[in-house]
Amino acid sequence: MAIDSNAERIPRHIAIIMDGNGRWARSRMLPRYVGHREGVKTVRRVVEACTERNIAALTLFAFSSENWRRPSEEVSLILNLFVTTLKKEVAVLHGNGVRLRFIGDRAAFSGKLRELIDESEACTRGNTRMELVIAANYGGQWDITEASKAIARRVVAGELQPDEITPQIMAAEISLADLPPPDLFIRTGGERRISNFLLWQLAYAELYFCDCYWPDFGPAELDAAVAAFASRARR
Ligand code: IPE
Ligand code: IPE
Ligand code: MG
Repeated sequence: MAIDSNAERIPRHIAIIMDGNGRWARSRMLPRYVGHREGVKTVRRVVEACTERNIAALTLFAFSSENWRRPSEEVSLILNLFVTTLKKEVAVLHGNGVRLRFIGDRAAFSGKLRELIDESEACTRGNTRMELVIAANYGGQWDITEASKAIARRVVAGELQPDEITPQIMAAEISLADLPPPDLFIRTGGERRISNFLLWQLAYAELYFCDCYWPDFGPAELDAAVAAFASRARR
């Protein structure tokens, strides 16, 4: 048997559905917005913990393509929180060697937010300590649809025959094609759903669900998830 090195048991890419902000707030008789604001603090803690643990990539589901259906006040509060958080945190992330990028349809965002997103990606492009991916206005079905469109265009252009389309060709067009696929998926907040997150990319991920609301998640909960991953990987 091959030597079971420690490195093999550390996930390379963790993908997280950060859920439970609203319920966290409600359980404290606070407005949902306060839960989202606390959730941003958790993001900071978890990003730091992942860099310390040498996780190569972390993808966070921040806003789904279905989240537009929420009351418009909540949607604008969340989008404003993106703006203020980006303004505040990008320099810190850059200082810590984190490369930031976004997946999802950014066309729906305000010009200001799009500009901040573009700037943050450009500023951190050369960093190699950790990849931090924010899924914003992202949906797994949208992702697969966009990949299909790109392939269809190649077929129309005569570069590719329909029978030549393989999972590898699809994978190359899907978001995050250049990263190792997530090997550990975490969802907080007690629901056991994928909610249209990375449908293609999670094909082989270990799925880990915890009841803790996202604002209560921290390094200890992260370590519990990584330990569960390690024990499953050993089996
Ligand atoms: C997740 O928390 C954050 C976002 C979707 C932006 P929720 O807002 O879904 O919180 P719950 O699920 O209502 O508790
Ligand atoms: C998933 O959580 C999306 C994000 C965390 C951004 P939701 O709370 O929106 O998902 P559902 O509605 O419970 O499936
Ligand atoms: Mg939710």
